[in-house]
Amino acid sequence: MKTRAIVGALCAVGLLSSGPMANAEDLEVLHWWTSGGESKAVGVLKDMMEKQGYVWKDFAVAGGAGSNAMKVLKARVLAGTPPTATQIKGVSIDEWAEEGVLANIDAATKGWDKEIPPAITKFLNYKGHYVAAPFWVHRLNWLYINKKLLDQVGGTPPTTWPEFFVLANKLKAAGIIPLAHGGQPWQDINLWEGVVLSKGADFYNKTIVDLDHGALTSATMIDVFDTVRKIASYFDPGTAGRSWNLSSAMVIQGKAAMQMMGDWAKGEFLAANLVAGKDYLCVPRPGTAKLFMFNSDSFMFFKKDGSDAATKGQVALAETITSKDFQHKAAYYKGAIPARSDVSMDGFDSCAQKSHDDFVAAIKDNALIPSLAHGMVQRDATLGAMRDVVTHFVNSNEDSKTAVQKLAQAAKVM
Ligand code: BGC
Repeated sequence: MKTRAIVGALCAVGLLSSGPMANAEDLEVLHWWTSGGESKAVGVLKDMMEKQGYVWKDFAVAGGAGSNAMKVLKARVLAGTPPTATQIKGVSIDEWAEEGVLANIDAATKGWDKEIPPAITKFLNYKGHYVAAPFWVHRLNWLYINKKLLDQVGGTPPTTWPEFFVLANKLKAAGIIPLAHGGQPWQDINLWEGVVLSKGADFYNKTIVDLDHGALTSATMIDVFDTVRKIASYFDPGTAGRSWNLSSAMVIQGKAAMQMMGDWAKGEFLAANLVAGKDYLCVPRPGTAKLFMFNSDSFMFFKKDGSDAATKGQVALAETITSKDFQHKAAYYKGAIPARSDVSMDGFDSCAQKSHDDFVAAIKDNALIPSLAHGMVQRDATLGAMRDVVTHFVNSNEDSKTAVQKLAQAAKVM
């Protein structure tokens, strides 16, 4: 006991260093992976870093899509005490880099340009230097269906919105909640952007990427809002404020038949021991079969002590995140597919296999669609303004024509 205490004290003052203590740099990591499947995935990283002798300081801030975590991050950076690394997605990385607070992790990026598709890496660097490391690719435009409930009403997976409404009516008539939705702003826009996508990639690109005024106020966009209104008529009374994983739990437990969500929801199905293709189905949302709407999580690294270059611990984090072993294990638990294209898909479920094939095909066919709701297209201010319009619409009786006018105004917020 005494010897252990002395060794511990010597290690602490740096007089003795052997084994794991050799790397005893604290890694404070901010993330919002708090659900069952998410925790398993981030747990893989924690274990791998601890095995290398680092001290993992978990800084988890619950709240889907990072809605709360990103507020906490701003406060910490403003206070001059940023974490070692933070979970982040897409366009925001540039916004942070412009503030001059990010460390470059070039030392960890050997092989990335070859093994990680440009559709992912283009978000990760700033002025020629990598500042973030990619975890995986999530497909957003999934619809999950509880197989038992589908069979109970003799239904088939819908491929169009009219088919979706036919199925929803059958389920409702059988006393089953057709769709589990969580009434939170990010989930509302997540649902809405899937309907925009069902109008085709060109329409999505014109409205969401180019913010074209004519397309934003078009009859097609009015129809999008009308469709969202109709979908919302199938929500259950417990929808308001519900987190996404509780909606997944409803489908898992047979309390609701369907959910529209990115494939992190699949991590919940897996954690509950449900088998894809047998207990539940995952199909592209109506009208989006050939399209792959995606986001990709990454860790972004902050400067420590003013130095541009990442610390040893930050480099080790980035290297571990992009190691083949981690990419395989973590993507499996997360319901995603690995960001690296040279990682084997062995052992992944049928939905992930399909996701992988569709991702490769989408890159070739130019059918890869960045998600607005998940930060892959517009900057924070524009996204926030558009999200406000959509969520106000979903939670009020506003008519679609008014909503499209407001949307076009919101799209001007930069
Ligand atoms: C993130 C996922 C996360 C999900 C729910 C998404 O924005 O990319 O990693 O599981 O939000 O919080």
